[in-house]
Amino acid sequence: MGISIGMVGLGSFGSVFAGLFKAHPRVDRIALCDAEPERVKRFAEDPWFADKFNPKDAYDSLDAICKADLDALVIITQPWLHAPQCIQAMESGKDVYSAVPVTCLPDSEEVLDWCDRIIQTSLRTGKHYMLGETTVFHPQTMFCRKKALAGEFGDFVYAEGEYCHDVDVPGCSLREVNRKRTSGKLGSVWPEKLEGYRKRGKLSTPMNYPTHSVSGPVFVMGTRAVKVSACGYRNRTADPFFAGYDFSNVTALFRLANGASLRIAEMREAAGRISPLESETFRILGTSGSFSENIWYSNGRTGSREAIHPQVQTRYESAELFDPLPPAVTEAFRDYQNRNRSDAEKGDFVPTGHGGIRIWCTSSSPRSMKNGRVSSIHGRPDIIWPWG
Ligand SMILES: NC(=O)c1ccc[n+]([C@@H]2O[C@H](COP(=O)([O-])OP(=O)(O)OC[C@H]3O[C@@H](n4cnc5c(N)ncnc54)[C@H](O)[C@@H]3O)[C@@H](O)[C@H]2O)c1
Repeated sequence: MGISIGMVGLGSFGSVFAGLFKAHPRVDRIALCDAEPERVKRFAEDPWFADKFNPKDAYDSLDAICKADLDALVIITQPWLHAPQCIQAMESGKDVYSAVPVTCLPDSEEVLDWCDRIIQTSLRTGKHYMLGETTVFHPQTMFCRKKALAGEFGDFVYAEGEYCHDVDVPGCSLREVNRKRTSGKLGSVWPEKLEGYRKRGKLSTPMNYPTHSVSGPVFVMGTRAVKVSACGYRNRTADPFFAGYDFSNVTALFRLANGASLRIAEMREAAGRISPLESETFRILGTSGSFSENIWYSNGRTGSREAIHPQVQTRYESAELFDPLPPAVTEAFRDYQNRNRSDAEKGDFVPTGHGGIRIWCTSSSPRSMKNGRVSSIHGRPDIIWPWG
């Protein structure tokens, strides 16, 4: 028997995950929830959902879906709503998968308080909390994590992580994203709340949503920051998008608990149609092995011994760096991708969406929930890396 999952938030991002969670072979039943009825209807009326969706499992609020007898909720709502919603879900006896970030508020003290409350709720209720940070499911991250677990980096010495998302980047304008998230029944109350933060002198920065730059290096190294110094760039054009922002770009240098240093850049005002590899990227340098731009460098050094020369460089295609998926999962996602084609026309499984990572992101949570295993990005301070 598999698990039952409720999708909360079927907007721009949640709607691309609904079919993937439904397709997962370990999901037996799917429930749908959004405060905007047409967003639920779109999937509820799709015949492809019928074998796992019962019309009784359509909900218009978190309160209502929390009362249902479901194993887990997938929360893909507006970023400032995640933390209280995840806590409510765990309190109602459900495991939780949440979109990033944990929460997105201009008040850093409040953010830390919510993080602590999530951890305490997970410990007290025994319910799983998983943060669905997509960077952790990038093929480069998977590859580096394996190298790190095998000790092939040696000692970590330095890392960089960047997320460059210009406010007007073609195909994903942040103005448009913001307009959508602050419209509708629940989104439209946010601008007034945000104004309240501004009046108290609490301004936004790109570091309120730092997960795409930070998570690659931190996940691979399994460490934490102990010291930080940062520089900000302030918008100089009186652009209304940045009216509530302290800085539009921030670069920070961290001292890490493992002794390495880490440079992080979060940019919202930097020109260009930047490719995914350049806009959301990391480099990690160790005494024996380093990774940068899909190239693995190894000098053969072990312990205190000198390096064995020559240094080896191996360039990989991104597709080569993914972890393998269980065959049943690959087959289920292949069927989903080809659901509008006849058997004769069905092609191979092709990882798609955010460079293919959505599939891995989706695949990880039902498997860990089903096995009672702590997920890749969890809220348990008593269980530290490396996880199983
Ligand atoms: N790479 C990534 O990891 C990535 C990319 C894009 C978006 N995201 C995250 O995904 C999340 C969703 O973004 P989006 O653009 O889809 O937002 P959206 O505004 O389009 O959708 C959010 C939906 O949640 C619903 N909702 C909120 N609270 C609810 C409640 N209590 N009951 C019922 N419905 C509720 C809203 O009605 C809305 O339809 C954000 O947190 C964002 O940060 C992550």
